[in-house]
Parts: sequence; C-alpha cells; structure tokens
Amino acid sequence: MRGWVTRRGAVAGLASAAAGAVVAPTQARAWGTPLDYAFEGPAPERDLGLAPPLACTPGTPAQTEGPFYTPKTPRRAILREPGTAGEPLAVQGLVLTPDCRPVAGAVIDIWHCDERGDYDNRGFRYRGHQFTDAAGAFRFETIRPVRYGGRTPHIHVKVQGEATRLLTTQVYFPDMGDANAGDVIYREELTMRLDRAGDGWRARFDFVLTPA
Ligand SMILES: [Fe+2]
Repeated sequence: MRGWVTRRGAVAGLASAAAGAVVAPTQARAWGTPLDYAFEGPAPERDLGLAPPLACTPGTPAQTEGPFYTPKTPRRAILREPGTAGEPLAVQGLVLTPDCRPVAGAVIDIWHCDERGDYDNRGFRYRGHQFTDAAGAFRFETIRPVRYGGRTPHIHVKVQGEATRLLTTQVYFPDMGDANAGDVIYREELTMRLDRAGDGWRARFDFVLTPA
C-alpha cells in the first residue's frame, strides 16, 4: 500500500483550515469531503493521443461540493447506462502540477445528474473514480448532464495526487451560453473544451493540483 488519500487529505485539510482562517476561509470549505481510496501508482497507459497541456496555472479553482457527493464509488471508466436517452459524452484530460508535469496515479472521482436532471443518491449511477496513468491522463465515458434547479449543466469532480492537496470543483460546457450566464456558481475558467465525436461529444479539461 502506498498510502491513503484520506490520511493525506485530513492532514492537508487541517493545515489549510488554519491558514484559511487568515487567507481564504471559503476555499478551505470548498474542499468538502476527503477522498477515501488507496493510492496504488499509475493506471496502465491510456494512450489517448491527448494534445499537450492546455494551460498551466497556479491551480484549478475549487468549487463547492454540493449536497450530492457519495464516497466509495466504483472504479471504472464507463459510467454511461445502457438504454439511456442522454447524449454520449467522453470526458478526458490531464492532471498536472502547476509547472505542467503530470500527476501520475492521481485519483479522480466524478459525479453528475442523469438525462432528467436527477442524481442517484442511493446507488452509483453516473458516479465513478479512476487513477491517472503515467502521463496524468484520465478518461470517462458518460452522458451529458442537463440543467436542474437553476444550475447550468456541470460535472462535479474531486481529484487528488499522492503528494497534492485535494481539489473539489465543477466543470462546465461551453455551448450553454444563457444557462451558464444565469448560474451564479459558473466560472469561465472551469469550462471544458468540447468537440463533436461520433454520435456524441468529447470534452477536455486539465486539472492543476497544488502540492500538499
Ligand atoms: Fe450538481
């Protein structure tokens, strides 16, 4: 075993809570529930043919976890449910350090609503986690979430490397202009790059994690 996310998350959370009292208390709260998966090193190479990092920043902005996070999700790449009417969506990208190096073996846990705007709060529909490969790459196959309750479509994400802080955030779609503009949580920096792919969509977002 190479360590538990929980332990590191708890330590980082305590350190940051102390710092946050002076600097950024809302940021500390936005981290939300710690992850609870064992690190086991990089996943097998995914060979996604991803372009180089889109942007390297000091760190991807955190956003609120919201009320619907469920821990201990299945480890998997395919979240799409058989027979769904949702539009197919592949979400892929890199997990990086602020100086643009890959974070290999990071855990990335995502959850979103279904094609009717409902979250599965009893089971694990449209919930899952995986580990990045040596290039820091991840890829989930799912569906496009829809609007619900005043929120523009979004995907919730928790991501953490063995030596990074936990990032809890949300990512958005660039083709939801009015819905994005009307959502007070929406942030342009958290908008995915989106292309048509086959009968569905392909989205790219790179996450930048700060050291623990
Ligand atoms: Fe949500």
